[in-house]
Amino acid sequence: MSHAAVSITPGVEYFPGFLDRAAQEALRDDVLAILEAAPPFHPRMPRTGKPFSVRMSNCGSLGWVSDERGYRYQATHPETGRPWPAIPSRLVAAFAAIAPDAPPPEACLINLYDSAARMGLHQDRDENELAAPVVSFSLGDTALFRVGGLQRNAPTRSFRLASGDAMSLAGESRLAFHGVDRVIAGSSTLLPQGGRINLTLRRVTKASG
Ligand code: SIN
Ligand code: FE2
Repeated sequence: MSHAAVSITPGVEYFPGFLDRAAQEALRDDVLAILEAAPPFHPRMPRTGKPFSVRMSNCGSLGWVSDERGYRYQATHPETGRPWPAIPSRLVAAFAAIAPDAPPPEACLINLYDSAARMGLHQDRDENELAAPVVSFSLGDTALFRVGGLQRNAPTRSFRLASGDAMSLAGESRLAFHGVDRVIAGSSTLLPQGGRINLTLRRVTKASG
């Protein structure tokens, strides 16, 4: 693992090439096994029920889901009703390398992008523990990632998240608006079917003690 961080803005840290190719392949295989046990589902927007363009799954004691009833964390898969698979130990270790002072992550959201998928600007704010950073790892095709400020209309910057890159939102940028403008099809050979996987790790509950 490489740990050289590039600060995009205060609290937005970018770690290009954090995972080498062997680590990406091992993590990819972990994720493909998780998706067998916890199949991707189509999240839907609260109220309108409009489907997201990404498919999702989760691992960890809690998973993030969205449907007509709203955004929330829950301990079970919305379709199978089964508990989420555990977060792979190599991913817990990678989180700890980036956020050594944070309590261990409870949720890992798995976002699956095909070449047409994107994610509109949003904040990650469904967690009770906002002191811990949000840490994400990208596998497969490169994404054009956009990050702004604490208001939706604040100026934004964009940068590329390629396979093996990590980034974190911490401190004053923990609630920064962010999203994915698009994914560059065919930019990586890591995933047999192409596309992009983003793994976002979060602490949800307040750590005790
Ligand atoms: C997210 O904000 O949930 C995903 C970000 C990404 O795909 O890089
Ligand atoms: Fe997010």
